[in-house]
Amino acid sequence: MAIALGKELNRKLVKRLGLGGIAIAAILGSAVFGYEMERIDDSLVDEAVEQARALAPSLPDPLDASTAAKSQTVLEGFLAAKHNVGGTHFGGAEIYALDRTTVAEALPSLTPKVITAVDRSRHVFPATGDNWYVKHVVGGEIYLLVMTGLTTRDGRPIGYFEGIYHVAPERIAAATQAGLRTTLSVIFSVLATTLLLYPIIRQMNRSLIAGSHALLAANLGAIEMLGSAIAKRDSDTNSHNYRVTLYAVRLAEAVGLPHPGIRSLIKGAFLHDVGKLAIPDSILLKPGRLNDGEFDVMRTHVTHGLDVVERFEWLRDAADVVGCHHEKFDGSGYTAGLAGEDIPLTARIFAIADVFDALTSQRPYKEPLSVDQATAIMLAGRGSHFDPALLDVFFGIATGLYAEFGGREDSGLEHTLRHVTIGYFVEALSD
Ligand SMILES: [Fe+2]
Repeated sequence: MAIALGKELNRKLVKRLGLGGIAIAAILGSAVFGYEMERIDDSLVDEAVEQARALAPSLPDPLDASTAAKSQTVLEGFLAAKHNVGGTHFGGAEIYALDRTTVAEALPSLTPKVITAVDRSRHVFPATGDNWYVKHVVGGEIYLLVMTGLTTRDGRPIGYFEGIYHVAPERIAAATQAGLRTTLSVIFSVLATTLLLYPIIRQMNRSLIAGSHALLAANLGAIEMLGSAIAKRDSDTNSHNYRVTLYAVRLAEAVGLPHPGIRSLIKGAFLHDVGKLAIPDSILLKPGRLNDGEFDVMRTHVTHGLDVVERFEWLRDAADVVGCHHEKFDGSGYTAGLAGEDIPLTARIFAIADVFDALTSQRPYKEPLSVDQATAIMLAGRGSHFDPALLDVFFGIATGLYAEFGGREDSGLEHTLRHVTIGYFVEALSD
């Protein structure tokens, strides 16, 4: 069972680590790629701004209409020189005076399509020492509209430069490739880290499984021991508890009770009469019929039982069976007198299993009944004592169940019960 749990947890671990690694790699990868692309734009703008600012010392000072002709000559010379970096250069530019009037303009190597697309009227004059840019893609090529302030060597503002920086496609391709390489190395690192983490987490999981198993075995052992203690007091045998639990689980499986419900049912089946520990021997062990007063005391075993299971978190879900195992479908049971589906399903299932085993078992005062005799008696309680729908399902499996477990008191019965029980509880560990 530990191996099965290990495999299940390992499967989940592989799935979660794998998905987690891929998700982190995808998120980090796309973030890194976006950052790299932004970095490329920034470095191109820095490059363009540097060229533009280098133009300032050649320009007349002050920049105004009176020196416009000189400015025009300088600008045309600057653009003709094509200070290109790997084919990237200013295709056109405009010089503004401090009052933002144009003093020079030249667009020597830009097509009308580019000039129209890069709408220069939608620009922003930056603060001194700062710059502004916007990226345009025209015909698949990148044009940066860059604006920067122009200053003298001692930092005094003289005007503005606005240029259209045409980025050579080869530079974008090379930069994109470099960005992709960085992105891929990040993705690879994340996935490699995930792979390295796997054996470490798997080892931790193994220790955790061993610990959880020990704890589960201890908890199950404790409820089995309590069940056995009650059985000893009640002059009953553990085997009754084992058989009732197996019958109840099989009926629950037959009606499709979800597994958390089956776990509650198992706990409740073991502990249904735990409250009998608080009933005096004179009443619990009285051979004859109990009088009304004695029966009132006997009935308190249900509330005593609830007191016990509700104190312990792990047993709290057994309360449905412990508290309602003497309720009857028509409302004539005790202690709350619940009727129909107000009685928890696990308690209705348990009641059928409990009575069936009592009828088909040997007791000091009676011989065991056959399956037919037992079902005939139980049929009389259909709809009064028992849930009719559940009883019908039970009758369909009763013969098979009796052939498998009826009257058995051997160690094989205990083994089967442990196997069934631990299967349901181990499964919960990997949830
Ligand atoms: Fe009881």
